[in-house]
Order: sequence, then structure tokens, then C-alpha cells
Amino acid sequence: MANVRLFSGAKMPLEMHKVRIVQKLNLRPVEYRHEAMTAAGNNTFLLQNDDVFLDMLTDSGVNAMSDRQQAAMLTADDSYAGSATYTRLESRLHEIFGMDYFLPTHQGRAAENILAQVLVTPGSVVPMNYHFTTTKAHIVLNGGSVEELICDAGLEITSDEPFKGNMDIDKLVACIESNGPDKIAFVRMETGTNLIGGQPHSLENLAAMREVCDKYGLLLVMDASLLADNLYFIKTREAACKDMSIREISRRIADLCDIMYFSARKLGCARGGGICVRTDELYRLMRGLVPLYEGFLTYGGMSVREIEAITVGLDETMDEDMISQGPQFIEHMVDQLVARGVPVVTPAGGLGCHIDAMRFLDHVPQTEYPAGALGTAMYIAGGVRGMERGTLSEQRDPDGNETLANMELLRLAMPRRVFTLSQVDYAIDRIDWLYQNRDLVGGLVFTEEPEILRFFYGRLAPVGDWQDKLVAKFRADFGDSL
Ligand SMILES: Cc1ncc(COP(=O)(O)O)c(C=O)c1O
Repeated sequence: MANVRLFSGAKMPLEMHKVRIVQKLNLRPVEYRHEAMTAAGNNTFLLQNDDVFLDMLTDSGVNAMSDRQQAAMLTADDSYAGSATYTRLESRLHEIFGMDYFLPTHQGRAAENILAQVLVTPGSVVPMNYHFTTTKAHIVLNGGSVEELICDAGLEITSDEPFKGNMDIDKLVACIESNGPDKIAFVRMETGTNLIGGQPHSLENLAAMREVCDKYGLLLVMDASLLADNLYFIKTREAACKDMSIREISRRIADLCDIMYFSARKLGCARGGGICVRTDELYRLMRGLVPLYEGFLTYGGMSVREIEAITVGLDETMDEDMISQGPQFIEHMVDQLVARGVPVVTPAGGLGCHIDAMRFLDHVPQTEYPAGALGTAMYIAGGVRGMERGTLSEQRDPDGNETLANMELLRLAMPRRVFTLSQVDYAIDRIDWLYQNRDLVGGLVFTEEPEILRFFYGRLAPVGDWQDKLVAKFRADFGDSL
């Protein structure tokens, strides 16, 4: 991926790949989209993909594979035990991260299940830069709690801080001192911090965390699911790393950690996951849970074809052209929206463009889920499916009260190598229209609320008839256009 300069002087992200397999998309009429959203209980997770024009729900498991990945899938060695395919993945991980042991899992949260079962005890604490939904759920399920110690800039929507995902080191020390090191299950760093807008941490910050962990004898665990984006930002934003290769930066990161786990639905552009472990002792502690929950140690619930794709995908992640595609498209989207006055998370991060629903819909209270409401409006306005990352994605406290999120974000994910720039420009246009008509958008209320991870399959209804009014305004403004 290259950010080329045009004759006009403007910057344009240019794809360094060509598209050789395509999938037909449908852009349904706005009335149909309204009906589809109603049928989906106003939850973008419950829409049928056939009815979605741009699926910006997530980058998980939907990144475009390369020709090399597809070719490797044909060579997969389909055996339950001792598969050569598995050995190839193990060797690739060892080559990149230098850790001696690997435990395969069927996806990222399965790795979290194993880590939490082994390392979290009732009453223990896991300090981290920021939580991820499934991570927190597993820690809490095992009797532990989470302390988020993100640097102050991390929770500011607009900022010039290049590394908003950094851990506040003073807060980390204070947290360890106040709880006592014995109570700390492990220290977790989430690279490419998902829920605050795909924001990176610096290598320097991770090194400072290592020092603290060494001082108190604690394990440093990295959630490396979004490593690709973070590698790009370390290379382009951290002066001390600008002359290092992506491989060198990856190894430096790994050398600072005791454990690195990941979702291969993100890292490696396929589907699966796993845990890289430095010591034999830790490996043996966790090994027994793999056959119990995942499958035998040489596939861990993954298909061998996917394992081949991950092995090649990890190699491709070491290519600067490949890892820059997502961040540069996102930067384009963020810059264009900022120019139109739309409130978005800045600086642009990885993963996707994050719209600040708290400011976009400042008339909708958090208890009516502004980010969720904006997600439904976005689909009605343009057939674009995003994901709510705000109060709806939180769990109620034990007394049934809402846990209000720090941020109300609508995430429009940018799966790697999937969209063209004209599709992204179309999404920008529809967001712009929605922003001009934001007064029409109202809130949501639950009609069916699951207790755990309610955002996945809970059902909601609009408060009032604002969606009908939005459809009518769309027709008035766009005529018979889709
Ligand atoms: C940072 C982070 N950790 C863990 C996970 C869970 O991975 P999976 O969806 O493969 O279970 C995700 C998925 O989105 C993630 O973004």
C-alpha cells in the first residue's frame, strides 16, 4: 500500500494488489433496509449478509485472502495428529516471535478461556491497557476483575497523541502496589487496542511494562490479535523504529512478552487462533485444556486448510505494503469525515473508522444507546453495517444497573484488502448525509435483553417513529436512488 501524492497535491491511498475473485453485492432500496433492520431487532449482528451492501461490522474472519494463501490451502495435510500443516504453522510462529511453544485454539476467545482458567483465580486482578469484551467476560467468569490503566489520551476522542493505546506506567505500579503483586494474575497489553478505536501502543511503552513486570515478578501477556495494525503504527510513528523492518519490530515486541495469544481471524487473515508461550512450565500448565475444549494439539479446533492460510498470512503480515492497506484507507475515511465536521476518533487508528456517537447524537442519552442507534441509521441510510462499541456492548452490573461506557463509538471496520476506494467514498457520503440529518435520529430500547454479551443477539426497538422519518427524508433528498 502506498500513500501516493496526486498532481493536485492531495494524498491518495493506492492498493498494492489487484482483485481476482469478486463477490456480488446487493444495495437494497431504503424501505427494504428499514424493514430488514426491524426484522433484525435493530441489532446489526442479526442482519442477513445478503441485505448488506458494505459489511463494516468487523475485520474478524472476513479479510481477503491472497492467492498464496489460497494455494497453500490446497496443500493441507489432513490428519488428526502430527499434521505437517501444523508443523509449518508452529515453525512460522517460532521464526517470527521466537517463542518455543504453541497451543492452537479455534479462535481468539478460546485462547482467552484457557488463559483465564489457568491464570485467573477468584479475587485476582488483571491490569490491562483496555479490556476487550470476550477477554473481560472470561476473566470475570473465573472470579477475577479487570483494571484498565490506559493513558489519559486513550479516552479522549480527539487527540494528537500517536500512541493512545499506551498503558499508564505510574497507574500500573500503583495498581500492583495497592492490590499486592500476589493478587495480580498477569499484566495484559492489548496491541491495536480495539475498543478505544484500534489505537496503537509504542514499543517503548511495552518495554516499560516489561520492566515493571520484572520488578514484581509478573507475567506479561499480549493480546496480539490486532498486531498487524500496531506494527504499521510503530514503524511509521515511533522515531526509534523507523529504520527497523516489520520482522525486527515483531521480534522486539515478542521478546518483551511471556505469552502472546491471538485471533487468527484478524492476525494472519484466516480463521483460528492460538497461544505462543515462552516457557515449558507455562506450556504444561495450559496444554491439558486444548484437547478438552479445542481438539488435539496439532489442530486445536482449526481446519488444516485454515492453518495453512494462517501460516502464509503471518508471513504476509511481515510485508509493509500488506499491513498499511487498512490503516491508510482508514486515515482517508477519517480525514474526509473530519473535513465534513463529522466527529470521529483521531488520530486515525487501525481496525476501522470510529464515529463518536456521543457527539454525533448528543441529544440521545447513553441509556438509549446512541452508538447502537447510529448503527441502525447507518444501515438504513446506506446499507452499511457497522458495530456498536459503547454502552450496549457493556454488561449490566450485578444490581441490574446500566454500566455506561467511557465512549459511544460506531465502528465501521475496514477488513483488509476487501473494499475499493469508491465504496469507502460512498460510505463517507452517506455518513455526511446522516450527520446533516442527525436531529432525526433517536434512541433504542431493549425488547429482549440477554444476560451475557447482550450486544450479540439482543433485540431492540426505536424510541418513537424516528426511523420512518429518516426513510421519508432519504426519499425526499435522493429521489429514486438506492
Ligand atoms: C483484541 C481482541 N481480542 C480477542 C478477540 C477475540 O477473538 P475471536 O473473535 O477470534 O474469538 C478479538 C476479536 O475481535 C479482539 O479484537
